[in-house]
Amino acid sequence: MSLKKPAWSGRFSDVPSEDLIVFGASLPVDKRMWRQDIAGSIVHSQMLARQGIITDKEAAAIKSGLQVIEAQIEEGSFQWAIEDEDVHMAIEQALTKLIGEDGARLHTGRSRNDQVATDTRLYLMDRVLSISRSLNALRLELIHLAEKHSAVIIPGYTHLQKAQPISIAHYYLAYAQMFARDFKRFTSAYEAADNCPLGSAALAGTSYPLDREYVADQLGFTRVSINALDSVSDRDFLLDAVYAASVCQVHLSRLSEELILWTTEEFGYLKLSDKYSTGSSIMPQKKNADFAELIRGKTGRVVGDLNSLLVTLKGLPLAYNKDMQEDKEPAFDALDTIESCIKVMTGMIAGLSLNEGRMREASTGGFMAATDLADYLVEKHLLPFRQAHEIVGNIVLTCERQGRKLQDLSIDELQGFYPGFGRDVEDALRIDKIVDARTTEGGTSRTAIAVQLEKTRQAYSLDEQLIALR
Ligand code: ARG
Repeated sequence: MSLKKPAWSGRFSDVPSEDLIVFGASLPVDKRMWRQDIAGSIVHSQMLARQGIITDKEAAAIKSGLQVIEAQIEEGSFQWAIEDEDVHMAIEQALTKLIGEDGARLHTGRSRNDQVATDTRLYLMDRVLSISRSLNALRLELIHLAEKHSAVIIPGYTHLQKAQPISIAHYYLAYAQMFARDFKRFTSAYEAADNCPLGSAALAGTSYPLDREYVADQLGFTRVSINALDSVSDRDFLLDAVYAASVCQVHLSRLSEELILWTTEEFGYLKLSDKYSTGSSIMPQKKNADFAELIRGKTGRVVGDLNSLLVTLKGLPLAYNKDMQEDKEPAFDALDTIESCIKVMTGMIAGLSLNEGRMREASTGGFMAATDLADYLVEKHLLPFRQAHEIVGNIVLTCERQGRKLQDLSIDELQGFYPGFGRDVEDALRIDKIVDARTTEGGTSRTAIAVQLEKTRQAYSLDEQLIALR
């Protein structure tokens, strides 16, 4: 290929080789910020004219030139050239080619350092909003599922050993809390980005009488940055967003893991819809949870993006360093990945079918009523819990040796362990009773679930309102 000279080649007698130009370019990665770049340039040039730094005529020419370029990019006819290095140079060069000298006035009082920081913030705010919308759709789906299946009982686990029976609503609402916290983390990343650096120029500010407040306001920022040196070096907002994505991805991965386990023949609690499962090329019987596995698998990638970004920034002297060009690839990758995973998960859980019989059956085995049997002794006979625990431990051991369930023991047999067991113990061991006994706030009883649901719905609605404001 034969490349044209770089825009900054004025003070150079030789220029980098083609290989080096390709090596140094960020265009393939950052060209996706073209909308933000054009918006920033239009507002900057309007401001320059308002401040009498360029003429209104020049500003008008810049604006219409940029609009032509915008249309070209939109329809796919714009010629991106790697030797332009990045999206900022590509658009500015195209503008000057299109409208001549007026285009060359656009960069007055601006550096690519504040320009790239502005574009990246605007892009991130946009993407974070869209991720927050997807996240809320997932939260709403979990709320629907919790309402729809509130009577379904599943085993609750610790150490992946059956622990205590819970309602499946309790389970869905647990994830709804995680995604509500993720929403907050994304919101806080949005707020970190909502701070306009344009006008910081290279690092020191500029001698032109810029109106930074006007620029910030026109671009939809709430405030202007305070320190120019910081604002061209600050990538905290990216870290915040990629951290939010990492935690959210970990939540999705945990949920995926349960979908993978619970759709196996061994568990058999859930069935994925055909749309969300895949077959094997050799084993005709297989129905795999590929998409859940992929979500789990992509977690490594998003957490890797966070690591990559942190290490890139570590040890960079102020202000801008070319290292920072490496910020976008992991950040964009994390945003793309989390958004697609949230959407896939939403569709996947909406299409699940539940094997209620299997879940109920699994909830009665495994001595899951053992705690309730101990509680019965505490409540009825005022035994200290530790003592009741000991008695029930012996009962469990005996059942285990004889291959029986707690519910299989007769009253006589139970009384052999402790004389105080009465007929009412049968009732205390009924699974629905056990679930409904957990009435503490945050518990799994139907009454406690109703409260959880209400709170979860309220938090969701508040967050919906927050999105609508942006
Ligand atoms: N492509 C560059 C980046 O992504 C833009 C900023 C370039 N600034 C500079 N002083 N070389 O970081």
